[in-house]
Amino acid sequence: MIDLKQANYLDTQDVLKTFRKEFYHNSNEIYLDGNSLGKLPVKAKDSINNVVENQWGQNLIRSWNDHWLSLSARIESKLATLLGGSPDELKVGESTSVNLYKLIHALLSSTIVPKNLITDSLNFPTDVYIIEGLAKQFHCNPTTIVSYSSDLKADLNLLKKEIKENPGIVCLSLVSYKSSWLYPMRSLNEYAEENNSIIVWDLSHAVGVVDVHFKESKTKIALGCTYKFLNGGPGAPSFIYIKKDLISRLNSPIQGWFGHERPFDFSLPFIPAKGINRFDAGTPQILSMVAMEAGIDLTIQAGVKRIRQKSQAQTQFLVELINLKLHPYGFEIETPLNSNERGSHITLKHKESWRICKALIVGKAAGIKVIPDFRPPDYLRLGVAPIYTSYLDLFLSVERIEQIMQNREYEDISSEMPTVT
Ligand SMILES: Cc1ncc(COP(=O)(O)O)c(C=O)c1O
Repeated sequence: MIDLKQANYLDTQDVLKTFRKEFYHNSNEIYLDGNSLGKLPVKAKDSINNVVENQWGQNLIRSWNDHWLSLSARIESKLATLLGGSPDELKVGESTSVNLYKLIHALLSSTIVPKNLITDSLNFPTDVYIIEGLAKQFHCNPTTIVSYSSDLKADLNLLKKEIKENPGIVCLSLVSYKSSWLYPMRSLNEYAEENNSIIVWDLSHAVGVVDVHFKESKTKIALGCTYKFLNGGPGAPSFIYIKKDLISRLNSPIQGWFGHERPFDFSLPFIPAKGINRFDAGTPQILSMVAMEAGIDLTIQAGVKRIRQKSQAQTQFLVELINLKLHPYGFEIETPLNSNERGSHITLKHKESWRICKALIVGKAAGIKVIPDFRPPDYLRLGVAPIYTSYLDLFLSVERIEQIMQNREYEDISSEMPTVT
């Protein structure tokens, strides 16, 4: 039986419960949007203050040698630990969009795979835009966007058929931003390899909550953002992964000085760095990198396998609660019901999703506020960040949705939308 007592009991049993205090929380507010922007780690604020006051404020240019030039490599090494790669296969910096451009451009300029571009209708729009733009620049065949009958999950037979018929560069998001559907990474990588193709995985919705292991999953190329479940902060730098044997066969489209073999020789002929640093371009974003390190450290300490276990248990708890309390109000769960097939958010479909979302955010009188998010056309996403989300948070949030529906509170809310929903 799921009730308040059960939620409290599960929290007492939670092996990750001590991590909650490592983050800032607002009183009377439940945050279920860690799948969009993670919370601020206490340590991140301290680190930024230190860097601003001491390293920038006083030490100035000397801080490049003393602290900053080694920062990227230290973070890359931590990301490698987290993701099952080697430190020299990871590069941190830029946004996910820019990194995807660099990677697809590099593949199209190489002879590694045929120049066919494939993605699917579950992918995040920026990925599709970038790929389509590159198809035009390279005058190759238009991008194939494999379309499925619903947003819930990919039709793997359809996707594989496309790869077999048009082998090349396939870009997929490991966890779909809409439904949270989790692709079978290893079997698709194997299928792609057998069919002369490479999958470029966008891990933005997976990193920090899904136990990705590059080597075990036979991944060749991946990238992702760090501001969601890694709690790296708004606009935190993205990362790329390239399997060691491919690095020397790929060139970044941006020949910047940080991608040079010896940037501080200031010599004019461009010689690309031998290793993954060839994908660097310009001066690294130090303040953002300082901010992101605390979130990565906490994820490593918590252990991504334990985070994944808790995520599966919590999303299951949420599904059961939704079935119990929200079923009569016309909600449909637009997320796979099998926890092995989903990431760490649960998507509800309802024709009034936006106004319900807004009613949750606005709250009522002294009651709790709940912060989820909305994605068109009618999805209400409830993000579970196991490193700080409690079972009680989930219980109270579903109770609050139930209350909104019982009292038809959403009817008093305007359907006007701000830019970020
Ligand atoms: C799968 C995926 N890729 C890319 C992005 C955004 O990329 P960028 O970091 O360039 O804004 C998002 C943002 O939510 C995302 O979910």
